[in-house]
Amino acid sequence: MTQHVIVTGGAGYIGSHACKALRAAGFIPVTVDNLSTGWEDAVKFGPFERCDLLDRDNLDAVFSKYSPVAVMHFAAFSQVGESMHDPAKYWRNNVIGSLTLVEAAVAANCLNFVFSSTCATYGDQDNVVLDENSVQLPINSYGASKKAVEDILGNFQQAFGLDHVIFRYFNVAGGDPDGEVGEFHQPETHLIPLMLDAISGKRDALTIFGTDYETPDGTCVRDYVHVCDLVDAHVLGLKWLLEGKGSRVFNLGTGDGFSVREVIDHSRAVTNKEVPYVEGARRAGDCTKLVSGSERAVTELGWAPMRSNLGEMIADAWRWHQTGHYEK
Ligand code: UFG
Repeated sequence: MTQHVIVTGGAGYIGSHACKALRAAGFIPVTVDNLSTGWEDAVKFGPFERCDLLDRDNLDAVFSKYSPVAVMHFAAFSQVGESMHDPAKYWRNNVIGSLTLVEAAVAANCLNFVFSSTCATYGDQDNVVLDENSVQLPINSYGASKKAVEDILGNFQQAFGLDHVIFRYFNVAGGDPDGEVGEFHQPETHLIPLMLDAISGKRDALTIFGTDYETPDGTCVRDYVHVCDLVDAHVLGLKWLLEGKGSRVFNLGTGDGFSVREVIDHSRAVTNKEVPYVEGARRAGDCTKLVSGSERAVTELGWAPMRSNLGEMIADAWRWHQTGHYEK
Protein backbone atom coordinates (compact mmCIF):
# COMPACT_ATOMS: atom_id res chain seq x y z
CA MET A 1 0.00 0.00 0.00
CA THR A 2 1.25 3.46 -0.85
CA GLN A 3 2.27 5.38 2.23
CA HIS A 4 2.07 9.15 2.23
CA VAL A 5 4.34 11.26 4.40
CA ILE A 6 3.60 14.94 5.03
CA VAL A 7 6.81 16.93 4.49
CA THR A 8 6.52 20.47 5.79
CA GLY A 9 9.08 22.70 4.15
CA GLY A 10 9.33 20.28 1.25
CA ALA A 11 9.96 23.21 -1.11
CA GLY A 12 13.05 24.23 0.87
CA TYR A 13 16.65 23.10 0.77
CA ILE A 14 16.62 20.17 3.18
CA GLY A 15 12.93 19.32 2.70
CA SER A 16 13.28 18.95 -1.07
CA HIS A 17 16.21 16.57 -0.63
CA ALA A 18 14.14 14.62 1.91
CA CYS A 19 11.30 14.32 -0.62
CA LYS A 20 13.70 12.82 -3.13
CA ALA A 21 15.00 10.32 -0.54
CA LEU A 22 11.48 9.39 0.57
CA ARG A 23 10.38 8.78 -3.01
CA ALA A 24 13.44 6.58 -3.60
CA ALA A 25 12.49 4.62 -0.47
CA GLY A 26 8.95 3.97 -1.79
CA PHE A 27 6.99 6.63 0.10
CA ILE A 28 4.96 9.47 -1.43
CA PRO A 29 6.11 12.79 0.01
CA VAL A 30 3.34 15.39 0.28
CA THR A 31 4.97 18.81 0.42
CA VAL A 32 3.21 21.25 2.74
CA ASP A 33 4.81 24.66 2.32
CA ASN A 34 3.68 28.28 2.32
CA LEU A 35 6.52 29.23 -0.07
CA SER A 36 7.66 31.98 2.29
CA THR A 37 11.24 30.78 1.83
CA GLY A 38 10.80 27.74 -0.43
CA TRP A 39 10.62 27.28 -4.20
CA GLU A 40 7.76 25.60 -6.03
CA ASP A 41 10.26 24.40 -8.65
CA ALA A 42 11.85 22.27 -5.94
CA VAL A 43 8.67 20.21 -5.47
CA LYS A 44 9.39 17.35 -7.86
CA PHE A 45 8.78 14.10 -6.05
CA GLY A 46 5.13 14.17 -4.93
CA PRO A 47 2.07 16.37 -4.52
CA PHE A 48 2.21 19.97 -3.34
CA GLU A 49 -0.19 21.57 -0.89
CA ARG A 50 0.35 25.27 -0.37
CA CYS A 51 -0.47 25.75 3.27
CA ASP A 52 0.69 27.82 6.21
CA LEU A 53 1.31 25.94 9.44
CA LEU A 54 -0.75 28.49 11.33
CA ASP A 55 -3.79 27.60 9.18
CA ARG A 56 -5.33 24.75 11.16
CA ASP A 57 -8.35 24.26 8.87
CA ASN A 58 -6.14 23.86 5.84
CA LEU A 59 -3.86 21.47 7.73
CA ASP A 60 -6.84 19.35 8.78
CA ALA A 61 -7.94 19.16 5.15
CA VAL A 62 -4.47 17.98 4.07
CA PHE A 63 -4.36 15.26 6.73
CA SER A 64 -7.82 14.11 5.75
CA LYS A 65 -6.97 14.08 2.02
CA TYR A 66 -3.82 11.92 2.32
CA SER A 67 -4.15 9.92 5.60
CA PRO A 68 -0.36 10.11 6.05
CA VAL A 69 1.56 7.53 8.06
CA ALA A 70 3.92 10.19 9.37
CA VAL A 71 4.96 13.83 9.36
CA MET A 72 8.46 15.09 8.62
CA HIS A 73 8.59 18.64 9.89
CA PHE A 74 11.27 20.84 8.31
CA ALA A 75 9.42 24.13 7.83
CA ALA A 76 10.97 26.83 9.99
CA PHE A 77 12.81 30.10 9.93
CA SER A 78 16.46 29.26 10.51
CA GLN A 79 18.67 32.32 10.55
CA VAL A 80 20.49 32.64 13.83
CA GLY A 81 21.36 36.32 13.30
CA GLU A 82 17.82 37.33 12.33
CA SER A 83 16.41 35.44 15.29
CA MET A 84 18.36 37.73 17.60
CA HIS A 85 16.70 40.83 16.11
CA ASP A 86 13.19 39.48 15.57
CA PRO A 87 12.46 36.82 18.20
CA ALA A 88 8.68 37.06 17.74
CA LYS A 89 9.03 35.91 14.14
CA TYR A 90 10.77 32.76 15.38
CA TRP A 91 8.43 32.04 18.26
CA ARG A 92 5.31 32.59 16.14
CA ASN A 93 6.32 30.59 13.11
CA ASN A 94 8.58 27.94 14.59
CA VAL A 95 6.78 27.32 17.87
CA ILE A 96 3.12 28.25 17.33
CA GLY A 97 3.27 26.84 13.78
CA SER A 98 4.72 23.57 15.06
CA LEU A 99 2.17 23.39 17.87
CA THR A 100 -0.64 23.82 15.36
CA LEU A 101 0.84 21.10 13.16
CA VAL A 102 1.29 18.71 16.08
CA GLU A 103 -2.30 19.25 17.18
CA ALA A 104 -3.54 18.57 13.64
CA ALA A 105 -1.44 15.40 13.42
CA VAL A 106 -2.81 14.08 16.70
CA ALA A 107 -6.37 14.97 15.71
CA ALA A 108 -5.87 12.98 12.48
CA ASN A 109 -4.39 10.07 14.47
CA CYS A 110 -1.09 10.43 12.62
CA LEU A 111 1.20 9.58 15.53
CA ASN A 112 4.63 9.30 13.90
CA PHE A 113 6.56 12.57 13.78
CA VAL A 114 10.09 13.32 12.60
CA PHE A 115 11.36 16.73 13.70
CA SER A 116 14.14 18.85 12.32
CA SER A 117 15.93 20.32 15.33
CA THR A 118 19.36 21.83 15.69
CA CYS A 119 22.62 21.76 17.58
CA ALA A 120 21.84 25.42 18.30
CA THR A 121 19.68 24.03 21.14
CA TYR A 122 22.92 23.15 22.97
CA GLY A 123 24.21 26.71 23.07
CA ASP A 124 27.85 27.69 23.48
CA GLN A 125 29.72 24.95 25.32
CA ASP A 126 33.35 25.59 24.58
CA ASN A 127 35.54 22.69 23.61
CA VAL A 128 32.91 20.10 24.31
CA VAL A 129 31.86 17.45 21.83
CA LEU A 130 28.10 17.60 22.07
CA ASP A 131 26.16 14.38 22.37
CA GLU A 132 22.44 13.85 22.82
CA ASN A 133 22.76 13.97 26.61
CA SER A 134 24.54 17.32 26.65
CA VAL A 135 22.64 20.03 28.47
CA GLN A 136 20.57 22.27 26.18
CA LEU A 137 21.16 25.96 26.85
CA PRO A 138 20.41 27.84 23.61
CA ILE A 139 21.96 31.30 23.26
CA ASN A 140 19.79 32.52 20.35
CA SER A 141 16.04 32.73 19.69
CA TYR A 142 16.30 30.25 16.83
CA GLY A 143 17.78 27.57 19.11
CA ALA A 144 15.28 28.42 21.84
CA SER A 145 12.36 28.04 19.42
CA LYS A 146 13.56 24.59 18.35
CA LYS A 147 14.12 23.53 21.95
CA ALA A 148 10.54 24.59 22.75
CA VAL A 149 9.21 22.34 19.98
CA GLU A 150 11.26 19.43 21.32
CA ASP A 151 9.52 19.99 24.67
CA ILE A 152 6.09 20.15 23.00
CA LEU A 153 6.75 16.79 21.35
CA GLY A 154 7.68 15.25 24.70
CA ASN A 155 4.45 16.51 26.25
CA PHE A 156 2.34 15.26 23.33
CA GLN A 157 4.04 11.89 23.60
CA GLN A 158 2.94 11.65 27.22
CA ALA A 159 -0.58 12.91 26.58
CA PHE A 160 -1.43 11.33 23.23
CA GLY A 161 1.26 8.77 22.35
CA LEU A 162 2.83 10.93 19.62
CA ASP A 163 6.00 8.95 18.78
CA HIS A 164 8.74 11.21 17.50
CA VAL A 165 12.30 11.16 16.30
CA ILE A 166 14.19 14.40 16.83
CA PHE A 167 17.24 15.11 14.70
CA ARG A 168 19.60 17.80 15.92
CA TYR A 169 21.46 18.97 12.86
CA PHE A 170 24.90 20.40 12.80
CA ASN A 171 25.78 22.46 9.68
CA VAL A 172 24.08 21.08 6.60
CA ALA A 173 25.86 21.59 3.28
CA GLY A 174 26.22 20.21 -0.23
CA GLY A 175 23.48 19.19 -2.61
CA ASP A 176 21.92 16.43 -4.65
CA PRO A 177 24.71 14.95 -6.83
CA ASP A 178 22.17 14.59 -9.68
CA GLY A 179 21.50 18.33 -9.51
CA GLU A 180 17.70 17.92 -9.32
CA VAL A 181 17.52 20.05 -6.18
CA GLY A 182 20.04 22.15 -4.27
CA GLU A 183 20.62 24.95 -1.80
CA PHE A 184 19.20 28.36 -2.56
CA HIS A 185 18.08 30.81 0.09
CA GLN A 186 16.84 34.33 -0.42
CA PRO A 187 18.45 36.08 1.36
CA GLU A 188 21.44 33.79 1.66
CA THR A 189 23.24 33.77 5.01
CA HIS A 190 25.15 30.48 4.97
CA LEU A 191 28.89 30.33 4.73
CA ILE A 192 29.43 27.96 1.80
CA PRO A 193 26.95 29.44 -0.70
CA LEU A 194 28.07 32.96 0.20
CA MET A 195 31.66 31.94 -0.37
CA LEU A 196 30.82 30.42 -3.75
CA ASP A 197 29.02 33.65 -4.70
CA ALA A 198 32.12 35.63 -3.74
CA ILE A 199 34.37 33.30 -5.72
CA SER A 200 32.23 33.64 -8.83
CA GLY A 201 31.84 37.40 -8.47
CA LYS A 202 28.07 37.24 -7.87
CA ARG A 203 28.57 39.25 -4.72
CA ASP A 204 31.23 41.13 -2.84
CA ALA A 205 33.93 39.54 -0.75
CA LEU A 206 32.92 37.20 2.02
CA THR A 207 33.10 38.72 5.49
CA ILE A 208 34.56 36.43 8.14
CA PHE A 209 32.39 37.02 11.20
CA GLY A 210 34.92 37.26 13.99
CA THR A 211 38.59 36.35 14.15
CA ASP A 212 39.01 36.58 17.92
CA TYR A 213 37.24 33.38 19.01
CA GLU A 214 39.01 30.92 21.29
CA THR A 215 39.81 28.53 18.49
CA PRO A 216 43.18 27.65 16.92
CA ASP A 217 42.83 30.23 14.12
CA GLY A 218 40.37 32.59 15.83
CA THR A 219 37.36 31.75 13.62
CA CYS A 220 34.26 29.72 14.55
CA VAL A 221 34.33 25.96 14.20
CA ARG A 222 31.42 23.99 12.75
CA ASP A 223 30.64 20.35 11.92
CA TYR A 224 29.45 20.11 8.31
CA VAL A 225 27.18 17.24 7.21
CA HIS A 226 26.10 16.48 3.64
CA VAL A 227 22.40 17.07 3.02
CA CYS A 228 22.03 13.68 1.29
CA ASP A 229 23.48 11.88 4.32
CA LEU A 230 21.22 13.96 6.55
CA VAL A 231 18.03 13.04 4.71
CA ASP A 232 19.07 9.37 4.57
CA ALA A 233 19.01 9.48 8.37
CA HIS A 234 15.45 10.83 8.20
CA VAL A 235 14.29 7.86 6.15
CA LEU A 236 15.91 5.58 8.74
CA GLY A 237 14.18 7.57 11.48
CA LEU A 238 10.84 7.18 9.73
CA LYS A 239 11.33 3.41 9.46
CA TRP A 240 12.36 3.35 13.14
CA LEU A 241 9.01 4.93 14.03
CA LEU A 242 6.99 2.70 11.70
CA GLU A 243 8.64 -0.32 13.33
CA GLY A 244 7.31 0.94 16.67
CA LYS A 245 10.70 1.62 18.23
CA GLY A 246 9.44 4.77 19.97
CA SER A 247 10.71 8.27 20.56
CA ARG A 248 14.42 9.04 20.32
CA VAL A 249 16.81 11.97 19.78
CA PHE A 250 19.75 11.75 17.38
CA ASN A 251 22.50 14.21 16.55
CA LEU A 252 23.46 14.42 12.88
CA GLY A 253 27.01 15.54 12.30
CA THR A 254 30.35 13.92 11.59
CA GLY A 255 32.38 14.72 14.70
CA ASP A 256 34.89 16.73 12.65
CA GLY A 257 35.08 20.47 13.15
CA PHE A 258 36.28 22.98 10.54
CA SER A 259 36.98 26.64 11.14
CA VAL A 260 35.77 29.34 8.73
CA ARG A 261 39.36 29.73 7.51
CA GLU A 262 39.60 25.99 6.87
CA VAL A 263 36.38 26.09 4.85
CA ILE A 264 37.89 28.92 2.79
CA ASP A 265 41.03 26.81 2.20
CA HIS A 266 38.96 23.82 1.06
CA SER A 267 36.91 26.02 -1.27
CA ARG A 268 40.05 27.38 -2.87
CA ALA A 269 41.27 23.81 -3.43
CA VAL A 270 37.95 22.57 -4.86
CA THR A 271 37.24 25.50 -7.18
CA ASN A 272 40.84 26.35 -8.02
CA LYS A 273 39.95 30.00 -7.45
CA GLU A 274 40.83 32.56 -4.82
CA VAL A 275 38.20 33.34 -2.19
CA PRO A 276 37.87 37.10 -1.78
CA TYR A 277 37.30 37.83 1.91
CA VAL A 278 37.57 40.49 4.56
CA GLU A 279 37.76 40.08 8.30
CA GLY A 280 34.82 41.54 10.20
CA ALA A 281 33.16 41.67 13.61
CA ARG A 282 31.42 38.78 15.32
CA ARG A 283 27.80 38.04 14.32
CA ALA A 284 25.31 38.13 17.20
CA GLY A 285 24.19 34.70 18.34
CA ASP A 286 27.11 32.71 16.93
CA CYS A 287 28.55 29.93 19.06
CA THR A 288 32.34 29.43 19.15
CA LYS A 289 32.37 25.74 18.32
CA LEU A 290 29.64 23.22 17.50
CA VAL A 291 30.88 19.69 16.93
CA SER A 292 28.74 16.60 17.18
CA GLY A 293 29.11 13.31 18.93
CA SER A 294 26.99 11.31 16.47
CA GLU A 295 27.70 7.72 17.47
CA ARG A 296 24.08 7.11 18.44
CA ALA A 297 22.75 7.62 14.89
CA VAL A 298 25.40 5.22 13.60
CA THR A 299 24.99 2.48 16.18
CA GLU A 300 21.23 2.62 16.74
CA LEU A 301 19.80 3.81 13.41
CA GLY A 302 22.47 2.20 11.25
CA TRP A 303 23.26 5.59 9.69
CA ALA A 304 26.28 5.44 7.39
CA PRO A 305 27.19 8.93 6.13
CA MET A 306 28.86 8.49 2.74
CA ARG A 307 29.37 12.00 1.35
CA SER A 308 30.13 14.15 4.38
CA ASN A 309 33.69 15.15 3.70
CA LEU A 310 34.16 18.87 3.32
CA GLY A 311 35.70 18.77 -0.16
CA GLU A 312 32.82 16.71 -1.55
CA MET A 313 30.20 18.96 0.05
CA ILE A 314 31.79 22.05 -1.44
CA ALA A 315 32.19 20.31 -4.84
CA ASP A 316 28.47 19.37 -4.91
CA ALA A 317 27.47 22.89 -3.88
CA TRP A 318 29.81 24.36 -6.53
CA ARG A 319 28.31 22.19 -9.28
CA TRP A 320 24.79 23.29 -8.31
CA HIS A 321 25.92 26.88 -8.04
CA GLN A 322 27.18 26.79 -11.63
CA THR A 323 24.10 25.14 -13.10
CA GLY A 324 21.57 27.65 -11.79
CA HIS A 325 18.70 27.54 -9.36
CA TYR A 326 15.04 28.26 -8.84
CA GLU A 327 14.95 32.03 -9.04
CA LYS A 328 13.40 33.22 -12.25
N1 UFG B 1 30.10 32.92 8.56
C1 UFG B 1 30.97 33.90 8.18
N2 UFG B 1 30.58 34.76 7.18
C2 UFG B 1 29.37 34.66 6.55
C3 UFG B 1 28.49 33.62 6.94
C4 UFG B 1 28.89 32.77 7.95
O1 UFG B 1 32.06 34.05 8.74
O2 UFG B 1 29.10 35.47 5.66
C5 UFG B 1 30.49 32.01 9.63
C6 UFG B 1 29.54 32.09 10.81
O3 UFG B 1 29.93 33.09 11.70
C7 UFG B 1 29.72 30.68 11.38
C8 UFG B 1 30.01 29.81 10.16
O4 UFG B 1 30.43 30.70 9.15
O5 UFG B 1 30.83 30.63 12.20
C9 UFG B 1 28.79 29.07 9.66
O6 UFG B 1 27.75 30.01 9.50
P1 UFG B 1 26.37 29.63 8.78
O7 UFG B 1 25.55 30.88 8.76
O8 UFG B 1 26.65 28.94 7.51
O9 UFG B 1 25.77 28.57 9.75
P2 UFG B 1 25.39 28.71 11.28
O10 UFG B 1 26.39 27.89 12.02
O11 UFG B 1 25.22 30.08 11.76
O12 UFG B 1 23.92 28.16 11.26
C10 UFG B 1 23.63 26.90 10.76
C11 UFG B 1 22.17 26.81 10.39
C12 UFG B 1 21.34 26.93 11.62
C13 UFG B 1 21.81 26.00 12.68
C14 UFG B 1 23.26 26.23 12.93
C15 UFG B 1 23.87 25.39 13.97
O13 UFG B 1 21.82 27.82 9.49
O14 UFG B 1 20.03 26.64 11.28
O15 UFG B 1 23.96 25.99 11.73
O16 UFG B 1 25.25 25.69 13.99
F1 UFG B 1 21.17 26.17 13.82
